[in-house]
Amino acid sequence: MQIEENIPLAPLTTFGIGGEARFFARVHSTNELREVLAFGKEKNFPTFILGGGSNVLIDDAGFPGLVIKIELLGVEEKEDMFVAAAGESWDALVERTVKNGMWGIENLSGIPGTVGGAVVQNIGAYGSALSQTLEWLEVYDTHSGEEKRLTKEDYKSGYRDSIFKREPDRYVVLRVALKLSKTGTPDISYKDLALRFKDTPPSILDLRAAVLEIRAGKFPDLHIEGTAGSFFKNPVLPAEEAHKLQEKYPELPLFPLPESKDIKVPLGWFLDYRHGVIDMRSIKVGGARMYEKQFLVVVAERNSSSRDVKELARLVQEKVKNTCNLNIEPEVRIV
Ligand code: EPU
Repeated sequence: MQIEENIPLAPLTTFGIGGEARFFARVHSTNELREVLAFGKEKNFPTFILGGGSNVLIDDAGFPGLVIKIELLGVEEKEDMFVAAAGESWDALVERTVKNGMWGIENLSGIPGTVGGAVVQNIGAYGSALSQTLEWLEVYDTHSGEEKRLTKEDYKSGYRDSIFKREPDRYVVLRVALKLSKTGTPDISYKDLALRFKDTPPSILDLRAAVLEIRAGKFPDLHIEGTAGSFFKNPVLPAEEAHKLQEKYPELPLFPLPESKDIKVPLGWFLDYRHGVIDMRSIKVGGARMYEKQFLVVVAERNSSSRDVKELARLVQEKVKNTCNLNIEPEVRIV
């Protein structure tokens, strides 16, 4: 395995901005991972694990340590279980399961990035979350230097939350097993899907196609501008506080979280000028702006810097705090 020096990271991310990795390695096996982690430890370098680069913002100065790009590949199918290596494309996996008529992750169609990144984020969209199908996962424990199997209970999932957020930098995802079903039913609870399929429930292929179409209308074209999707997390509030906000803004939709009494408040609603609370349309920092078709999304034109994006994010945070008294935090990992 090769350890390279001064490798530009911008092309390896969907934002397409940021500097170089001082050291960089691509790993294709657990042994290579072990080897490169040992190198980083010996030299005392900070280490960063990169998947598809679809949820990260790299600093303009780059990363002063070792970036490890996970390129572990392979998908195995055993009846209703799909076991995929962390470096596989998430959406290629979804496409394969959908073509096989296996239900469970079709609403998570079109999300860029790798399987490993999807697990770390506990990705969620259109009423589904990855944690709903996760059966077990295999990780490399950097504390013990051993491979370990974690159960879905160990995964400790929540809204955009998992053990990987609570114990950052401890584990590297190697493989994940998802339990799918031949006899699923379409989840069209999400408003845009419910409207489309109000008369006839969709086939799994139609459902994937609809999700891809909805996404295409809400996210920028990565060939033209950079983005990492939603830049901020939606605030999660105790029910009482969420309802108080709704008293103030009667049109505000609320999204109760499963397995909790808390409520997810759609930050994009406040940032959407049409609701008369915050208008971000004239605010542009360098080449960075809030996306006009989905105001939770930051887009960065080709000439933007990471500093532009961070300054824009700061302005949004300030505005949201001053206008709605909400504390918001980035969903994107800032490196
Ligand atoms: N809304 C607006 N205008 C906007 C954006 C949102 O009015 O510009 C309101 C609408 O009322 C809508 C509600 O906010 O009903 C929620 O909006 P949307 O369904 O677009 O979802 P979101 O909460 O903004 C989340 C995820 C997305 C995921 C979508 C779809 C987070 C941080 N983001 O966004 O995930 O695709 O739901 O389910 O939870 C990502 O994480 O990068 C991501 C794109």
